[in-house]
Amino acid sequence: MSLITLSSSITFTITNHSRHTRTQSLTVRCTDDNQYNIQTSPAAGQVDRRHLLMGIGGLYGAAAAPASATPITAPDFSKCGVATNLNTSQPLKDNCCPPLSSEIIDYKLPTAGGLRLRPAAHLAGKEYWAKYAKAVELMKALPADDPRNFMQQANVHCAYCNLTYPQTPAAGDSDLKLQIHNCWHFFPWHRWYLYFYERILSKLIDDPSFALPFWNWDNPDGVVLPEAFVEKNSPLYNPRRNPEHLPPAMADLAYSSSKPTNPKKVIKNNLSVMHREMVRRVWRLQDFYGAKYVAGSSPDPGPGAVERGSHIALHVWVGENTTGGEDMGNFYSTARDSVFFSHHANVDRLWTVWRGLRGTKKKEFTDSDWLDAEFQFYDEHARLVRVRVADALENERMGYAYQEVDLPWLKNRLLARKKKSKAAAGAAYRAGEKVFPAKLDKVVRAVVKRPKKSREKEEEEEELLVIEGIEADTGRFVKFDVFVNDEEEAAGDLDKAEYAGCYSHVPHRNSGRIKTMIRLGLSELLEDLEAEEDDKILVSLVPRDGGEDITIGGVKIVYD
Ligand code: C2O
Repeated sequence: MSLITLSSSITFTITNHSRHTRTQSLTVRCTDDNQYNIQTSPAAGQVDRRHLLMGIGGLYGAAAAPASATPITAPDFSKCGVATNLNTSQPLKDNCCPPLSSEIIDYKLPTAGGLRLRPAAHLAGKEYWAKYAKAVELMKALPADDPRNFMQQANVHCAYCNLTYPQTPAAGDSDLKLQIHNCWHFFPWHRWYLYFYERILSKLIDDPSFALPFWNWDNPDGVVLPEAFVEKNSPLYNPRRNPEHLPPAMADLAYSSSKPTNPKKVIKNNLSVMHREMVRRVWRLQDFYGAKYVAGSSPDPGPGAVERGSHIALHVWVGENTTGGEDMGNFYSTARDSVFFSHHANVDRLWTVWRGLRGTKKKEFTDSDWLDAEFQFYDEHARLVRVRVADALENERMGYAYQEVDLPWLKNRLLARKKKSKAAAGAAYRAGEKVFPAKLDKVVRAVVKRPKKSREKEEEEEELLVIEGIEADTGRFVKFDVFVNDEEEAAGDLDKAEYAGCYSHVPHRNSGRIKTMIRLGLSELLEDLEAEEDDKILVSLVPRDGGEDITIGGVKIVYD
């Protein structure tokens, strides 16, 4: 053990640290015994200065970065805290913090090797499923403290979403914790997570072409939970699922537990949900990806359309029909069910599909606060690696592609229930300013003025309905739907143009309430309702689950 002094005011102790290391390495400790993951490159024996600065950011690290560049940085695993059961507010029995490593490698995408092809689950054959089951069996058989072990892998998700990490190493013990959901990191973080998961499985069965299957729930042909997940003796089986949603039940992308969709309408609604999330003027990057989230941001600035819609619906639909919703329906436990990885492979595929639909429009943010954000994972060799959002934009560059399947929702433009509604112009409803803030224990309706009577006809401008100051209990599933110019109770009528979209979340943390916002594209909707020349619209917020725990701060229209 030796001491080094890095500046006149900071002294570090260097110790040998043997856990998970195959090479000699150094861990730097602050003298107050706060341990940081500050590493040497074992070969060079030199401290990685960049991470040293991050580690002591509270002291002077902030000055090292220009004020404009504040992407989130890879979490310091040694600062991981215990996650909490969201329903009881008790610490979880099992801690979901990852093992520590004394070495962190900046990950480079391999350039050699063929393309793995992720198959649609409903099209994959027996042989494929046997291989996948074998790989998961081997993953479950790894020593419990191997970071590639099945449970360790499940805990990766828990740790990144149950507010166990300080948001940045510089955030130290402050209350600001890292949350990769409900923000613009939703797609890239999950892509990286699946990427390493797939490579670990692939290595375990020594098959470099192995790729995860995607559950093609956006397609009527693939809408039933793949059979391989429900065979009782399979390593892919998990008992903690809603028994009513096993095959032959069809996945309900508009699911709410209090009022599941009439089975006769599931397919129609699903196609409508998908069209809305993927096509209907999801014009602005933020409305697809989610809102900006940087160092210093509060968690949950705002989820994108797929995240808060079909994605959440299926988590809850698969999980037990209880408040906790384990395993799939609760973020701390969700990845303990193998279905998670096929569910998210489809979410990841939808990202690729959406990019393909963009034509010449921008496919991703160019903001370095997004591109330079970092995460950490264990790779297939159990090495801790640091990855960047910028390397996750194109799946083919990452060495995998998706089997081509139909997109039956693509041309599914929605019909109005009633065109040229006069609801907003009548005297029956109050103006938004008088209605909000409001509790969603019943349907809430308000008239909202359009700042410009008619939007600019520029291709790129979108008119957006903003529902802001959404506050809700995070210990349970909550959901509400939003309709425009619709005076009906609208229950279940999600396949009409009046339906603007939804907000929902899976329970994912213990304390306090989520505070977030959503934006819903109005331009195509108003066209379909022939309401483009109106100066007001009627907005209805319809609670589906947990409405008594939801309040809405306000509703307005913006142009972006
Ligand atoms: Cu990280 Cu579908 O959740």
